[in-house]
Order: sequence, then C-alpha cells, then structure tokens
Amino acid sequence: MGKLKKLWKDRNNQYRYFKWLLFYSKPYTGRIILMMVMNLLATLFTLWMVTISKQIIDNASEGKRFVTLVVVYLGLMLAMEIISIVSRLVATMLSERFSFGIRKQIYEKIIHSCWIDVKKYHTGDLMTRLTSDAGNIADGIINTIPSIIQLGVELLLVFFTLFFYSKALAVFALVLAPVAALSSWWLGKKLKKLQVKVQESEAAYRSFLQESLANLLVVKAFANEGYYVDKLSRLREERFYWVFKRTKMGVASSSVMGLTFELGYIAAFAYGALQISKNVITYGTMSVFLALVNRVQGPIVGLAQQIPKVVSVLASAGRVMELQNLPEEKTLNEHINGEEMGIRMNNVSFGYVPEEMVLENASLEVKPGEFVAIIGESGIGKTTLIRIIMSFMSSVQGGISFYNNDGAVEEANAGTRQFISYVPQGNTLFSGTIRENIQIGNLNATEEEIWKALELSSGYDFVKELPKGIDTVIGERGHGLSEGQAQRIAIARAFVRKSPILILDEATSALDEATEQKVIQGLQELTPRPTCLIITHRKSILKYCSREIKIENKSVLGTCGGEG
Ligand SMILES: Nc1ncnc2c1ncn2[C@@H]1O[C@H](COP(=O)(O)OP(=O)(O)OP(=O)(O)O)[C@@H](O)[C@H]1O
Ligand SMILES: [Mg+2]
Repeated sequence: MGKLKKLWKDRNNQYRYFKWLLFYSKPYTGRIILMMVMNLLATLFTLWMVTISKQIIDNASEGKRFVTLVVVYLGLMLAMEIISIVSRLVATMLSERFSFGIRKQIYEKIIHSCWIDVKKYHTGDLMTRLTSDAGNIADGIINTIPSIIQLGVELLLVFFTLFFYSKALAVFALVLAPVAALSSWWLGKKLKKLQVKVQESEAAYRSFLQESLANLLVVKAFANEGYYVDKLSRLREERFYWVFKRTKMGVASSSVMGLTFELGYIAAFAYGALQISKNVITYGTMSVFLALVNRVQGPIVGLAQQIPKVVSVLASAGRVMELQNLPEEKTLNEHINGEEMGIRMNNVSFGYVPEEMVLENASLEVKPGEFVAIIGESGIGKTTLIRIIMSFMSSVQGGISFYNNDGAVEEANAGTRQFISYVPQGNTLFSGTIRENIQIGNLNATEEEIWKALELSSGYDFVKELPKGIDTVIGERGHGLSEGQAQRIAIARAFVRKSPILILDEATSALDEATEQKVIQGLQELTPRPTCLIITHRKSILKYCSREIKIENKSVLGTCGGEG
C-alpha cells in the first residue's frame, strides 16, 4: 500500500516537472516546432526515396526508363542535405538561447529568494544546478522531447507504408515494440535513482573543488596537498561509480534491443528471399521490405534510447524545481521615508533550527539618531539579531518595524533594506577595482562621494598612495589588501549609501585603536547622521555610544550608557 502511494505521489511530481518544463519552453515553441517540421520533412523524403529506389530497381530489371527517377532521387538527396544544415544551425541557436534563458531564470530565483534558505545549499551544489542541471533541461526540451514526438510520427508513417506493401511483415516488424516497451519501463524505474545519484555526486565534486581552491591557503598551511588530491580522486571515483552503473544499465537494455532488432531483420530477410524464390514479390519490393523493416525498428530503438535522457531531464527538473519552491522574499512597493529612522522589535523569537532558539521573546527599540553598541559573548546571537533586522531570515516570530520622526511605521521586509547601510562581519569584498567595490553601496556614487567616504572611513591615505588609486584591481575577497584596509573599503562602501540607519558588525576588528577611533569619529561626521548600531567586542568604542545593549540568555538587555 505504502509503495503504491509513493508511486502515485511520484507520478504527480513527474507530471509537475513536466508541466514546469513546458511552461518554460513556451517562448521557444515556435522554433522547436520549426525544427520538428524540418526533421519530419526529412523523414518523408527518405520514405519517398525508398519507394523511388524500388521503382528504379523494378524499371531497370524490366528494361524500362528510369533517368527521371534518378534525377528526382538526387533532388531529394540535395533537399535533405539543405534541411540538415538549416536544422543544425537552428538547433545550436535554440540550445544556446534556451539554456541561457533557463539559467537566468534560476539565477533570478536564487537572488530573489530568502537568503537563509539559499544558504542551506552549498555554492558548489547551486553551481551544479545552474550549469549541469540547467544544461540537461535545455537538452531535453530542445532535443529529447522533439525527438520523441518525431520518432513516434516516423514510426507511424513507416508502419503504414510497410502495411501498404505487406500486412504480415508490418505486424512482424512490430515484434520489437513490446520488448522495447518492457525494457524501457524497467530501465526508467532503475535509472531514475541512479541519475539523482549522478547529479548529487557531481555537486559534491564541484563543491569540493570550489571550496578547496577558495581556501588554498589553508590547504597549504596545514600541508594537506596530498590529502586534498586524494580526496578529489575519491569524489571523482564516487561520481565514476554512479555514471558507470547508469551506463551499464543503459548498455544492457540497448543490447537486448539490438539483438532483437538483428533477429527481426534476419527474419524479414529470410521471409523476403522465400517470397522471391516463389516469385510472389519483385526484387524492388524486397528492397522496400528490408529498408522499411530497418526504418520501423529504428524509431522503436530510438524511442527506447530516449528513456535515459527523459529520466535525466526529469531528475534535473526536480533539482531545479526544488529551488523554484524556495519562498520568495516579501517586498512592499511603498515605503516610508525620513532622514532619521528608528527600529522597533517586539517579542521576536528565532532559531536556525526549531529546537535551538537563538533569540526568544526579544524586544528592542532604537530611537532615531541613537548611537547604540551591541555587546555579548561570541556565538550569543549578535549577527543573528542584525540578520533579523535586515530581513535575511525566514520564519521569524514577532514584529520588526522601522519608523520615522513623523510616526510613520513600516514592517520589516526586503525593501526596508534601503534604510540600512550594512558592513557585514568578515571580508565581503569582490574581485574588481576599489571603485567598483565602493559603488556596490551606491551604484550612482560620484568620484567625489567615493573619496569623501574613503576619507571618513580612514581609507583615503592608503588608497591615495596606490599607483592606480581607486582604480586599483583587487582579487577575490579583497586579495591584495590588508585585512584592515579591506575593512575600511567595506566601511566606505556602506558610507556612500547614505541611509538613515548604519549597522557595523565588528567592522573595525582588524584596525589598530587609533585608526578605529578615527573611523568612529568619521562616522559621526556623516551628514545626515544615521542611527547607528555597532557590534563590538572592544571597550574603547563604548565611550562614543549613547547606549549599550547586551544579548544574553536569548534576550536583548538594554542599559543606559555614557554621553553620545
Ligand atoms: N547559518 C546558521 N545555521 C545554524 N546556526 C547558526 C548559523 N549561523 C549562526 N548560527 C548559530 O547561532 C548562534 C548565534 O550566532 P551569531 O553569529 O549570531 O553569533 P555572534 O553573537 O554574532 O557571535 P560572534 O561574536 O562570534 O560573531 C551561534 O550559536 C551559531 O552557532
Ligand atoms: Mg557575529
């Protein structure tokens, strides 16, 4: 009973995947149909050529003229060649466009989904879905599905042509059909699990590659080169194991099919020879027999060969659809505005896993213009609190809102991030120029604004001394800059944004005390001055803050501090 239920549920899934595939191939339907029509024409032409060759042989053996027939035959051959050229060009264009279209769609989906949900996937896994799985899907829509339709039509056409010449032979040629159907059914069932394993092992392999290359320094520092090369081989072996298992399955079934096919052909050959010896048919008809038996079994074998592809497409569609099901971020269209803004959190509870809450019934109010320090021991939930305020988390209980001096209130949503300039914990620079990195904060920031932001973040002097200034190219994660320099660029990036709220998450942890003080002073010179939330482990910053709040026991505790 359970098994039946599972099968039924899975059937629904396959149907959903299939519907999803159709939905995304809609814009390409016209060109796909064009390709199918061209291929169909090619099939019709071959059939036509078969009957012409029969006439040529018959005419020749009876001593009749056959020059016109030869000319028509040559014409058809030429037409087939042209069709093949055009269809190859259309296919390439289509597959490039379509595979990019589907990748863009997946990328958009990832970008617009809730951050914490996306972060559950390894970057390497996401990359596999974006490249390999998307490629499988594109191949399926552009090659596999049209092939199936075309092979089906071809099968019918050839069958009826054969039926016209010999009913017995036509039925006989179909002997392969039940064998094909049975082995396809069996194969499809076995293959599906294997295909998912293949994609999973691919994802593991890519994740490993990506991560070990990004952390090359750690690999080398601990002298683990040999271990990592071995690990790569192991992951490769794992993938090879699944790919080979899948291939063996495919080969076994196609051998069964091929043998049956051979037997069918030999039987048709013997039958035809017998008929000729009895003078029942002509040599021409015999040639038609052989050609058509070939052509009726060809599509059957072809259809069976599409099974692994269909399975692979459906497995990839399932993996991509999993991303499609990620909840979209909530964004409001209308926003409140104001130069100064406050934050209000009411009885907020959140845990990355339900059993382990990081915050429980935590409440907090930060008034417009306040300068607040957030303290608390490592791992207590400071960064988590900020992520909640930034609406990066899903399934947060309680209310978070922003308000301006006029008393207008807006519930936190993806759009309220525009109120916030944020310096995340850790190195978050991109490869590219310093200018590009700072402009991430404000794509329209002018040269003057960039330098001003650098001045206030104490980055001015060191950037000025670089031979190419703000056009200096830095590597991944700010490679080429010192940690403290990278932090000052990240702070300048937040400064050019000029939002009413500024949040720094241990943004000055790599700076010496004097530079840190300068950054904090620069921050206070920002005009208009934002409401500030600063996470810090340093006592030296506290004297600048109007208030400090502490995270303890899953709650936010506020205490009154010194002057602002
Ligand atoms: N993505 C995540 N998934 C699951 N648990 C997480 C995740 N990120 C953080 N945590 C856990 O949540 C708790 C709070 O982490 P958080 O990063 O907010 O601490 P923090 O106060 O910022 O610490 P630090 O001062 O070291 O930066 C920790 O116990 C941490 O292990
Ligand atoms: Mg933190």
